[in-house]
Amino acid sequence: MYSEKVMDHFQNPRNVGEIENASGVGTVGNAKCGDIMRIYLDIGEDGIIRDCKFKTFGCGAAVATSSMATELVKGKSIGEAMKVTNKAVMDALDGLPPVKVHCSLLAEEAIHAALWDYAEKHGIEIEGLEKPKADIHEDGEEGEVY
Ligand code: FES
Repeated sequence: MYSEKVMDHFQNPRNVGEIENASGVGTVGNAKCGDIMRIYLDIGEDGIIRDCKFKTFGCGAAVATSSMATELVKGKSIGEAMKVTNKAVMDALDGLPPVKVHCSLLAEEAIHAALWDYAEKHGIEIEGLEKPKADIHEDGEEGEVY
């Protein structure tokens, strides 16, 4: 049911942890399944993501997608990180079962939330970035902040 890559990133997740004094931190959850994901970004003055770490309290697919998402944004510019969509993360993992697609949305939203935090702290705007929802399950309405 799961690809080898999903199993690998679930069993040996990359970049687990926190970044002290991170440039941006984003936390999102899904109230329906109760899973929560937090992403930390360390962004240099040149706008390159030097480091990225995550903490995920959630299902195996959420762990695997956060692991892969951190790998994909590391070393990238902010513009490139914006292109790390849930689809890009799923493709990099050789796919997810349909019932687990929403787990990859957490990863995309957590990256966006961390970039949003970075942009707010620096008083800048990131092209194409909209204010992230704290709960990806809610439609339109903002969820509770964890
Ligand atoms: Fe909720 Fe996977 S079941 S993130």
